[in-house]
Amino acid sequence: MDNDKRFVTGLDVGTENVRAAIASVNQNGELAIVGYNEGKSAGMRKGVPANLAGPAGAIDKMLGEAERMGGYDVRSAFVSINGSSVISTKTEGMIAVGTVEHEISVDDLARVEDVAVSGRIPANRDVLDVVPLEYALDGQGGIKNPLGMSGARLEMRANVISALTPNAENLKKATAAADVNAERLIPSVVAAAKAVLTERQKENGVAVIDFGATTTSVAVYEEGDLQYLGVVPAGSNNITNDLAIVLAIDPEMAEEIKQRFVTGNFNSEKSAVIRIGKEGKERVFERKEVEEVVKARLDEIFGEIRKKLKVAKYDQRLPEGIVLTGGGAKMRDLDLFVKDALEASVKIGVPKGLGGVSDSIEKPEFAVAVGLALLAAEEGGASEIAAKKPKKLPKLTKAPGFIKKLFSKF
Ligand SMILES: Nc1ncnc2c1ncn2[C@@H]1O[C@H](COP(=O)(O)OP(=O)(O)OP(=O)(O)O)[C@@H](O)[C@H]1O
Ligand SMILES: [Mg+2]
Repeated sequence: MDNDKRFVTGLDVGTENVRAAIASVNQNGELAIVGYNEGKSAGMRKGVPANLAGPAGAIDKMLGEAERMGGYDVRSAFVSINGSSVISTKTEGMIAVGTVEHEISVDDLARVEDVAVSGRIPANRDVLDVVPLEYALDGQGGIKNPLGMSGARLEMRANVISALTPNAENLKKATAAADVNAERLIPSVVAAAKAVLTERQKENGVAVIDFGATTTSVAVYEEGDLQYLGVVPAGSNNITNDLAIVLAIDPEMAEEIKQRFVTGNFNSEKSAVIRIGKEGKERVFERKEVEEVVKARLDEIFGEIRKKLKVAKYDQRLPEGIVLTGGGAKMRDLDLFVKDALEASVKIGVPKGLGGVSDSIEKPEFAVAVGLALLAAEEGGASEIAAKKPKKLPKLTKAPGFIKKLFSKF
């Protein structure tokens, strides 16, 4: 492997699935996917770790395969964080910088950011990111980058992304137990947005909705910046569970019905019954009943998203519409349902335009992992050193008891 390249890793720790995208980055900053994998998650509840051994074991197992594909050992990664504690808060700060001739420096920017953030975010929250929205100099607003400009009073409007500290800490502990340093924690939907949105969409106004297993997150972009972020603690697994309860069937059969027979187009002509199972053991369900259950849950979830968009004042104000990602977005014709529910144009978002073996992960459920790798390529430093180390081949997979032993002391 050539040494002028660096390597980055995106690690999506979901409730139902864990996914990784390993990419090489060339000198122009272009990515080529060199390894990827997905596997079942464990020990996660509504997007946050419920124990450490579950996600650690799932990451370790899944990553092993991705590492073998790429031929590199992943020591550090950009990692997704999720759950309804992940929120955005708009804040403001103001500092005096001296006389009118004073030129705004990097230190001034850090100081005004500090004023905008400290004291505004509760102590039990970790600040994940501060997105500067606008600066003002001596009352003159609309400035995107005041560096080098003159003024005596500097104001900043920002969007602060935060999560409850225990959730962030436990996620870091879980990845550390799988031998991966969580270099940065990025909200899942922000990572998804990185992978599927164009700069033009972000400039004009667009929302990404990541429809996962147990969470549905929304991120709104306008003027190129993240304007709003919110997470609804329900997802596509709720549909499966509702079907299992109402039809009195096991979750596996409910999942099969959802994936094979349910569509987001509730007005189309379809057969009146759904038949499933082997001959002799066949089960027959009224389509009307199935659709009622699915539609009720979709109404609830996207109704909550609509409420959030309304609070953020982006309800019916998205010129570039909505882009759907996540495994839940694989429901056939879901775009038609969401178009009606949110009264906006809707597309399914897949990560595109990367080199290497990327065509295999051009799927809505890989948007988060790919977006994390893209962000790591843009901002990352440590992952370069960490992932660059060629492995001793073949890599000794950790003994199956490794994780168990590690956690026996917990
Ligand atoms: N073909 C399909 N049709 C409908 N739903 C599907 C399909 N394939 C997967 N799903 C659903 O997608 C969900 C999993 O999505 P995803 O992998 O994005 O979740 P996750 O990231 O693990 O969860 P979360 O983000 O909530 O923590 C499951 O509920 C699954 O049933
Ligand atoms: Mg997810």
